[in-house]
Amino acid sequence: MITNANLVHQPGPPSSFSYEEIEIPEPGPGEVQLKHRMIGVNFIDTYFRSGLYPYPLEPPIIPGAEATAEVVQLGPEVNDLNVGDRVVYTGGFGAYCQHRNMKSDRLVKLPEELSDEKAAACMLKGLTAHYLLHGTFQVKPGHTILFHAGAGGVGLIAGQWANHIGATVIGTVGSKEKAALARENGYHHVINYREENFVERVMEITEGAGVDVVYDSVGQDTYPYSLKCLKRLGMWVPFGQSSGPIKNFELKDLAAHGSLFTTRPSLFDYVATKAALQQASKELFEMLEGGHLKITINQKYPLKDAGLVHELLENRKTKGSTLLVP
Ligand SMILES: NC(=O)c1ccc[n+]([C@@H]2O[C@H](COP(=O)([O-])OP(=O)(O)OC[C@H]3O[C@@H](n4cnc5c(N)ncnc54)[C@H](OP(=O)(O)O)[C@@H]3O)[C@@H](O)[C@H]2O)c1
Repeated sequence: MITNANLVHQPGPPSSFSYEEIEIPEPGPGEVQLKHRMIGVNFIDTYFRSGLYPYPLEPPIIPGAEATAEVVQLGPEVNDLNVGDRVVYTGGFGAYCQHRNMKSDRLVKLPEELSDEKAAACMLKGLTAHYLLHGTFQVKPGHTILFHAGAGGVGLIAGQWANHIGATVIGTVGSKEKAALARENGYHHVINYREENFVERVMEITEGAGVDVVYDSVGQDTYPYSLKCLKRLGMWVPFGQSSGPIKNFELKDLAAHGSLFTTRPSLFDYVATKAALQQASKELFEMLEGGHLKITINQKYPLKDAGLVHELLENRKTKGSTLLVP
């Protein structure tokens, strides 16, 4: 069938997007055809668009790793879904379009009470907060954590979730408005790292003790300062690079800052199996249904405006989650 997609022929700046008709085949074995209802925007989409992450298929590149959809056609050997089911997914790329085919085992059925908007705004980001706080490092009551970019898509969800667990939650943000929003979303202490030295502030807040874990998606600009915020034997979790990749990391830096632990995690390893994906999604939906997480959708644009949305995201002009309307 013919559908519309916002795609990129050559990796490049946000102006590289081109809104075009594309042809998609019939769904193959184990696949269903989806009609998107709402598309989530994530920083990872900018990495594929710019070429920072190599696109694993022949161009054109179709970014997009999060969406809600209606199942409109079943391929052969699909027995866990029906036409008309409402589903949500998170996966590496391909969501910036109106229709697509997808393996049915990567789809999660949406609970009736969960809206398309909310689910598309929190599937990738919420599952990321889930694995960071429960998997990579198991945050417990009494822990103190530092989460950079606290008013971002992942940051707003992680602040609420860590607060719900019972941790003391410190966040960094890049403006006064973002600070106010982070405070409303679980952060006990907020540091504007464009104006304040965040290492000094963390040491003041923790009375010199340092934090148990730092979640750092900013990358280049916050390295190696994040290491200086940690307790001895603390955990440094560099999980993104919004300001650019870290260039000068050496293993000996971990020893120099107190025998620290680290990993460079990716959501897609934590939800690689169908069982892990379904279990993590169930826990995310329970947090939403229990009223422990509110999802802030601060930007919503038509799919054809993906270039503008990427520009806003890369220039630190967004707060919370961003959606594209197919
Ligand atoms: N590894 C994983 O599994 C995984 C999964 C999801 C997301 N991530 C990573 O987590 C990060 C957050 O993703 P998101 O989609 O929720 O994005 P986001 O946090 O909504 O947006 C990025 C934020 O990073 C901050 N930032 C600091 N320096 C920046 C710079 N030089 N350029 C741009 N932004 C800068 C900005 O907030 P301030 O203005 O407040 O500084 C900006 O709003 C991204 O790095 C993403 O790659 C990783």
